[in-house]
Amino acid sequence: MMRKNILVIGGTGLVGKVILRILQARNPAYNLFVGSRQLGKTNNDLVIDVNNPETFDCIAQNKIDLIVLCTKDSDNAILQFAIQNKLDYIDITKPTSDLTVAYDLAKANSKKIASRIVFSSGWMAGIVGSLIDFMEPDKQKIQETNIYIYYSVKDQAGKSSANFLAENICKPFVVYKNNQPQKVKHFLDSEKFNYSFGIGKRKAYNLDVPDLFILNQIEKIPTVSVKMTYNSKFVTSLMGYFQSLRIFNIMFLRERQLLFGSSGNGDQTVFEVIIKTQDKIKRISLQSIKGQAELTAFSTVLHIEKMLNETLSGVYFSHQMHSSQEIYEALDNYTTINLKISE
Ligand SMILES: NC(=O)c1ccc[n+]([C@@H]2O[C@H](COP(=O)([O-])OP(=O)(O)OC[C@H]3O[C@@H](n4cnc5c(N)ncnc54)[C@H](OP(=O)(O)O)[C@@H]3O)[C@@H](O)[C@H]2O)c1
Repeated sequence: MMRKNILVIGGTGLVGKVILRILQARNPAYNLFVGSRQLGKTNNDLVIDVNNPETFDCIAQNKIDLIVLCTKDSDNAILQFAIQNKLDYIDITKPTSDLTVAYDLAKANSKKIASRIVFSSGWMAGIVGSLIDFMEPDKQKIQETNIYIYYSVKDQAGKSSANFLAENICKPFVVYKNNQPQKVKHFLDSEKFNYSFGIGKRKAYNLDVPDLFILNQIEKIPTVSVKMTYNSKFVTSLMGYFQSLRIFNIMFLRERQLLFGSSGNGDQTVFEVIIKTQDKIKRISLQSIKGQAELTAFSTVLHIEKMLNETLSGVYFSHQMHSSQEIYEALDNYTTINLKISE
């Protein structure tokens, strides 16, 4: 087998580093490169600024086969570079509105695409679609899906992840009810949800994640919602008050960045998916003891391995490459991830 050259852009960041660690441990034969704006110490450290295409020359020089994008690329410069140079590409960074732009761009170029272009920006690097399929393979039967996220501010969070809420907290976004898009805002429409893994009853509030778009527009599930709660009940309610009293609107971006930008030393992350059909309500719950970065990175590694092994060229949302059984089993066998199913 040819040795594969894989470049992680944003490879010095919180998630990028873990991707490199897990990739290396599972696939010692891969040749891994780290891309960031800083000059590194080895020949495998490449200086790349996604905002400056002149820095992309080193990608061809080092015969990169696959690019993992772990930093925000607002102009989709890396996506276009990957399509032009027939390189495999996987992106975990796009909030919903950016994802739709990138997806349209890829579709518009679909005749030119001779590599694997994979959008993996769904919650925890795009595994929700696989978990839903595992629970209910007959997709047409699904009437509604609700995702509930438990987000600990004690968990480690990269600088760039925190910016999303700071920048978008006041902007409305779309959820789907019977295929009708409905505009909502973050931290409104609270709902009591009884979380698993000993967390218990919490108020959960609206959160915009790309799964809203993916599950309705691509998977055709008529009703989709996503709600989140913080580990602290106090912080969760406070955010609800801030939003309903429009306090976020009068704050400066810097202040909102400070508010949402906290990162702890590490904590668990949990999310649960409720799948409703005419006659049944099923639930799958996932806990990552080592938190969001570990889970996101492990999911991304599963996608990368799949891209390099069996997947034909084309445009994919990550879950579309896999059998849901293999994703379920890989997650279930990972020592720091727990899965629970109930009906
Ligand atoms: N899909 C999911 O479930 C999921 C989950 C978690 C995170 N994410 C996303 O993954 C991304 C990374 O998150 P993180 O927590 O690892 O963030 P982070 O710790 O802030 O890391 C950002 C990385 O990007 C590099 N970088 C920043 N600007 C760059 C540029 N212009 N060109 C090239 N490299 C640049 C940084 O290095 P330098 O500053 O040295 O260049 C660093 O290596 C974020 O976009 C986040 O939203 C997605």
